Amino acid sequence: MRSPKDFFAPLAVGAPEPLRQIPVPPSRMIHFFDPSNEKMAAKVPDIAKKVDVLLGNLEDAVRADRKEAARNGLVAIAKSTDFGKTQLWTRVNSLDSPWVLDDLITLVTEIGDKLDVIMVPKVEGAQDIHYVDRLLAQLEARAGLTKPLLVHAILETASGVANVEEIAGASPRMQGISLGPADLAASRRMKTTRVGGGHPGYLVRTDPTGEDLNEGRTTYQQDLWHYTVARMVDACAANGILPYYGPFGDIRDVVACEDQFRNAFLLGCVGAWSLHPVQIDIAKKVFSPSPEDVAWARRVIAEMGDGTGAVMIDGKMQDDASVKQCRVVAELADALAA
Ligand code: GLV
Ligand code: MG
Repeated sequence: MRSPKDFFAPLAVGAPEPLRQIPVPPSRMIHFFDPSNEKMAAKVPDIAKKVDVLLGNLEDAVRADRKEAARNGLVAIAKSTDFGKTQLWTRVNSLDSPWVLDDLITLVTEIGDKLDVIMVPKVEGAQDIHYVDRLLAQLEARAGLTKPLLVHAILETASGVANVEEIAGASPRMQGISLGPADLAASRRMKTTRVGGGHPGYLVRTDPTGEDLNEGRTTYQQDLWHYTVARMVDACAANGILPYYGPFGDIRDVVACEDQFRNAFLLGCVGAWSLHPVQIDIAKKVFSPSPEDVAWARRVIAEMGDGTGAVMIDGKMQDDASVKQCRVVAELADALAA
């Protein structure tokens, strides 16, 4: 049976680090669509050509009286569409909802061979992943599937964040984790009503005494999600799975969206959700390393020879650790070019 780890290519290149893995195929943007929306569904074959991952959403943003239509719509689309190299994922309803059992039974039975990953929302701890894991094993066996479905958790409850390490390692099916900033904000009783992104009130001021060079009142917005994203990245890296930033709700604010995606990329995330076609290109740009960064990384790798010792390049010290950083960038570029 194929292991979920087959989704990842170990990054050999002479480096002895077993956990440095990146996705094959890439998953820079997980593009959400509502399969109950006929207009949106009609665009799926075209959108599929532009994205790394297409996700049929059954959970939040689909009205309660459209749940069945969304489930059946996804089955119909999956059966009638050639997705090429694009991965097909779904987000099922949460484990405490009346819909999730039918979601899993129907999808695995009808299109289990077409789906790559099942995104599970509002995961609270390892027990939620264990439940899905066992159910999937039963349904896969009944449907005669030979390729195990992978599981992706959304980190969007306070308990989920407290248990993120055990969630990341809860099953060999675990593919990755996404931050869910909207539900997480509510669960934590944060005071932002935005879907992801910053908040103008959450800032750092320069020293109010004026004893600074910027005359005391310059403010900088901070990243509200820094702590959670960093924790999620560590939990994922330690377990060999992939971290993602989730949704950015202000579709018109392409600058803030790019900023939020880039913060996540720099912290270690491999992708983000796109909720609108305009966010597809933002994610593609942000989650692909820039040609300048790749050129620099390749130069350091070349000049570091066997990767040990230290060299000065343009006045900057490079050593065994910095060459590993450069390999992360170069290998991501290679994987995306493959
Ligand atoms: C996503 O599901 C979120 O709650 O932000
Ligand atoms: Mg949510």
